[in-house]
Amino acid sequence: LDEAREAIAVHARMVADFPKPGIAFKDLTPVLADPVGLSSVVTALTHGCRGIDLVAGIDARGFLLGGAVARELEVGVLAVRKGGKLPPPVHSVDYTLEYGTASLEIPASGIDITGQRVLLVDDVLATGGTAVAAAELLQRAGAHVVGVAVIMELDGLGGRATIADGLGADLPVHAVTVG
Ligand code: PRP
Repeated sequence: LDEAREAIAVHARMVADFPKPGIAFKDLTPVLADPVGLSSVVTALTHGCRGIDLVAGIDARGFLLGGAVARELEVGVLAVRKGGKLPPPVHSVDYTLEYGTASLEIPASGIDITGQRVLLVDDVLATGGTAVAAAELLQRAGAHVVGVAVIMELDGLGGRATIADGLGADLPVHAVTVG
């Protein structure tokens, strides 16, 4: 964990007033482009993970991490896509963004994740709305979401509380760092 936190401290780029005034955007791109950064962050994301059957990575930056984490855990990976990208049939869930709504989808055919223990992976936990929506989608397909792992939890946006409300206070939420 220490090596990953050091890599994030060195390489993460803070961008003021993006995507709108007053927001400090945390760009983790340089962390993942660094060999030690990627490797240490992926290992840190699996910290404490036991008994995972499948990793689900959330569109779009969660894809980069999901595949690597799945390899580390020696399981498969599932992409949780933004709406409209997958052929039918799909499982779909709408969720609320700061402005308007969006949807997430997974295939409803070709894979059967019933009863699988799924680790949800993403780069950033902010308000928690995306993680809760993705977990609800996986549950709808019959999977058990047994953990959420992110590189960075943004402080003060209530993500952890939203996950506890939506998915239960027992669900482990693992953030490599808090920003
Ligand atoms: C970002 C981030 C998470 C989500 C977190 O993705 O990668 O998926 O927001 O926000 P929340 O906790 O408030 O829901 P974004 O929606 O910007 O999509 P992108 O990865 O495709 O850029």
